[in-house]
Amino acid sequence: MKHRIVYERRQWGNNTYHDKNKLLSKCESSTHPNIADMISKNRNHIDQRKLTVDAILSMKRKQEKICVLTSYDYCFASICDREGIDMLLVGDSGGMVMLGYESTIPVNMQEMMLFCNAVARATKRALVVGDMPFGSYQIGIQNAIKNSISLIKSGCDAVKLEGGIEIVDTVKAMISVGVPVMGHIGLKPQTAKLWQGYRIQGKTVESALKLIADAKALEKAGVFSIVLEMVTDEVAEIITRNLSIPTIGIGSGSSCDGQVLVIHDMLGIYKNISPKFVKHYAELSETVSDAVTNYIQEVKSSIFPASDHSFYMDKSDLNQLRDSMTGNRKEKNEVKKRPAKTRNGVEPFSGKQEH
Ligand code: KIV
Repeated sequence: MKHRIVYERRQWGNNTYHDKNKLLSKCESSTHPNIADMISKNRNHIDQRKLTVDAILSMKRKQEKICVLTSYDYCFASICDREGIDMLLVGDSGGMVMLGYESTIPVNMQEMMLFCNAVARATKRALVVGDMPFGSYQIGIQNAIKNSISLIKSGCDAVKLEGGIEIVDTVKAMISVGVPVMGHIGLKPQTAKLWQGYRIQGKTVESALKLIADAKALEKAGVFSIVLEMVTDEVAEIITRNLSIPTIGIGSGSSCDGQVLVIHDMLGIYKNISPKFVKHYAELSETVSDAVTNYIQEVKSSIFPASDHSFYMDKSDLNQLRDSMTGNRKEKNEVKKRPAKTRNGVEPFSGKQEH
């Protein structure tokens, strides 16, 4: 059902529908009268059971595409989970889109655990994968195990780390203590910036063979899936065909078993970089800008808050309050029969204000 919706959306060409209501109203008037129906049926047909690692593995066997988005906070995670996302990746990209770092390198465990906590609290169904930040798995295997357990204790169902053959022992050690691990090869943002920069991976025979060997080694070590980032279409297809675990692509073509995008990219919120592989499913940056401008104008011109946004006393209570206030004033006026003059000659309680 899900696939059919995506297919129908593609058939509509360049139109990007910013929200489901627009999509639904478009459906109602379009030549695709069944789509509105399909979307609501899709919602009703989401299996509400919590997805496990085994469930993700079986999706590959059933050739069901795996939908993954990143998430770092309660509100977005709740929406994604409700709409039937299969996995939520608490990526270290959160360092960039949530905290404003220039790359993922500065992100630390405390920051990741905060994100993971919020996402886990919002998630009932999706499998939550926490990214191990740079430095959290390179300083000895015991330290890596300890940090992976911290992410699991923060509510994640699995962890992800970047690397191929060189991290196989670390991966095995984590799995041996019961932590499910997702691999990440191709472009590895944590180290790419320090070495060759952000480049497409698998363009040469040598680089393709290295990626295939890395994928095989990670599968053998026991990872339950592998992210392929910015890998050429052909190499991603070869890897996907040759593994029994799912590949999750980002900028790696359509043959991968699943896809992942950074949610701030696909919603058009994060504008600092704009990778070619991102499709904007919304332009929320503009929507938010418009809303903020509108708010400022309405507050400045006293349009907001209107009576709809205000709270009122009962009429009788208000009258009583007014009476008691006029009563007070009368009493006070009687007490000061001979009003004293102030320094500037204004009588107190005369209604004229001293400034
Ligand atoms: O941190 C992240 O968001 C990621 C995805 C790009 C796969 O690792």
